[in-house]
Amino acid sequence: MFTFADVNRQSAKAPNALSGKDDLRIAATRSADSLYGGFAVWRFIKKISPLPCLALALALAGCDQEMRDQPRHEPLEASSFFEDGRASRAQVPGTVPRGHLHADGHLHAGKVAGRPVETLPFAVERSDLERGRERYQIFCAPCHDAVGTGNGMVVQRGFRSPESFHTPRLREQPVGYLFEVITQGMGAMPSYADLIPPQDRWRIVAFLRALQLSRHAPAADLPEEDRRRLEDVE
Ligand code: HEC
Repeated sequence: MFTFADVNRQSAKAPNALSGKDDLRIAATRSADSLYGGFAVWRFIKKISPLPCLALALALAGCDQEMRDQPRHEPLEASSFFEDGRASRAQVPGTVPRGHLHADGHLHAGKVAGRPVETLPFAVERSDLERGRERYQIFCAPCHDAVGTGNGMVVQRGFRSPESFHTPRLREQPVGYLFEVITQGMGAMPSYADLIPPQDRWRIVAFLRALQLSRHAPAADLPEEDRRRLEDVE
């Protein structure tokens, strides 16, 4: 490849044969040639006509189809394929989607024979209460606050204030009622059926009961030692 030094040397040696400008042009052409020389594919593409080129590009684009881009209908989209013009099909009468049978009314609705149940559908262990507290703090405390008095951060920022869980009315509600409120929502409170599986909703209910008890435990339920300390204070 020619360099400026070569150009200068040549033009100094034979000033009449070639001007410095000509040498520069030669140098530039040679270096461009060597650059393109590597692009054998480019030369090939330059030779073939644009039409097969386009076909090749389209074919390669087809290879790139991802699963998420495949032809499909979005939920509730219109479709000319079915007679009723809807892509989503109605449930076949008399059938239940897998996982939606919910035959156990106690577990899934908190109701038996149309009445809110008074008992939890499974025996509650300490681990259930701990899970209930954790779920409560995630899903409920933002509005109902950590101890259930209804003054969570969302309420402090202007959301409707719910009743405290420690009022006589809410303490007397059967557990099935509390479960139903979480499942269906109530007034300004949304339903949590889609976010919290039924077992966890019951664990939250168990924790609500523990919260209520924490403020209304009868002194007689305390261990002997704690009761004596309480009497000393009084
Ligand atoms: C976005 C705020 C918000 C969240 C989160 C929320 N609630 Fe509520 N909740 C309310 C409001 C507001 C009410 C009062 C309903 C009304 O008057 O519109 C209420 C009412 C209640 C009631 C009382 C129903 C009655 O009879 O007065 C219970 C029980 C309850 N919520 C439980 C829960 C539990 C358990 C969770 C968590 C799974 C939860 N809430 C999450 C806002 C919320």
